[in-house]
Amino acid sequence: MPTDFKSLQLKAGIAFSPAAPIDKYSLFSGRLDELTRLIDAITGKGQHAITYGERGVGKTSLANILHEVLKNIGREDVLVTKINCDTSDNFSNAWRKALREIVHISEYPTVGFEPETKQIVMDLSSGLGKVIVPNDIIKAFKRTKKSMVFIFDEFDRIQNNDTDRNFADTMKALSDYGIDGTLVLVGVGDAVDDLIKSHESIVRSLIQVRIPRMTVDELNGILDKGLKELSMEIDDDARERIVILSQGLPHYTHLLGREAVRVCLRSEQIRVTLPNVNKAIEQAVKDAQQTVTSDYQKATSSSHKGHLYKEVLLACALVKGDDLGYFSLAEIRTPLSRIKGKPFEIGQYAQHLANFCTEGRANVLSKIGDKYRHQYRFNNPILRQYVIIRGFMDELLTEDMIDLMPIWTP
Ligand SMILES: Nc1ncnc2c1ncn2[C@@H]1O[C@H](COP(=O)(O)OP(=O)(O)OP(=O)(O)O)[C@@H](O)[C@H]1O
Ligand SMILES: [Mg+2]
Repeated sequence: MPTDFKSLQLKAGIAFSPAAPIDKYSLFSGRLDELTRLIDAITGKGQHAITYGERGVGKTSLANILHEVLKNIGREDVLVTKINCDTSDNFSNAWRKALREIVHISEYPTVGFEPETKQIVMDLSSGLGKVIVPNDIIKAFKRTKKSMVFIFDEFDRIQNNDTDRNFADTMKALSDYGIDGTLVLVGVGDAVDDLIKSHESIVRSLIQVRIPRMTVDELNGILDKGLKELSMEIDDDARERIVILSQGLPHYTHLLGREAVRVCLRSEQIRVTLPNVNKAIEQAVKDAQQTVTSDYQKATSSSHKGHLYKEVLLACALVKGDDLGYFSLAEIRTPLSRIKGKPFEIGQYAQHLANFCTEGRANVLSKIGDKYRHQYRFNNPILRQYVIIRGFMDELLTEDMIDLMPIWTP
């Protein structure tokens, strides 16, 4: 049968999903260690979990496929409920949303000459007052005999002061009463410390699962799964280019994968080549989120001729930094010297970094530490990646500099 290139073009948007978390295990790549630890928390009595990691690293996707994984290991009895928290939430309404999802049947005997048992269908939020306290959650759990998992995605967006303490108290009480329920809190980096500070004794019952950037194998897995869905193939150098430009962030593997596939299909081929990927990079730059492109513009534009903002920001993006993404001024020297093709000293770019931490340059970086030992990091990992891809398109970063890009090994 001849290949239907037009439907493959459309299907590419399903096989690769840069803008949406994964919700099917068949499209989910890697993360076996993290999954194992989460499943241990769910199947182990009295344990809870907190998963955290950089923006865009794959936290929601991991949470989304938990119910399918539990089913695959024979625990379809576990009810998994996922709630998205936002800044307008507090502990009470986050839990109300959660408990509303669980329907159970209450039985009660009628009185009279011929007593019988009547059943009413309720959800677990019924009967709760306006303000929900941890003890209410315990009572709600006791009303059903089911194993339950509640996942609170973006729980650190709840800004109420008592949130951490209330969640910590709830976890502690569930463990102490031996109730078959697990809380999984999903947040970004600093959320864990705050939670633990609220209740040091929960450390024993809390499994902390850090979601690091993805390994080369895991990123390759994303490409393999997407290409398999489309019955397409890819050259090794094209694959390597996508993986290295992704720098451990799955969003870019999906974005570049999808665009490269589409470029390839437009020329009625089914094997993706390096020129296809290079063309896809241009498209990816064009399609980047508007906030990312406007922040980049604000950070790097200047009326001074020969200014260095683009080059310095690119050099920052090329430094791997520590576990939390922080890097020092000195680390910029090598990549910047390579980009400009001549040696640079700290004094020539220190002010640029200071400026990147201001509103006028879109706060693209933030800094910590004292005056003599400042450490910097990107506020948005997706922007950092855009800087690299944009640098590649603008030929500030050339083929012979690919070795500057760190290979992400968590
Ligand atoms: N294990 C995975 N396999 C394949 N694709 C993945 C995987 N994890 C994440 N992705 C993809 O990466 C992108 C970001 O994933 P996701 O939304 O889950 O990240 P996140 O950490 O929740 O992001 P945010 O911090 O913005 O909430 C999505 O396009 C998603 O499809
Ligand atoms: Mg998310």
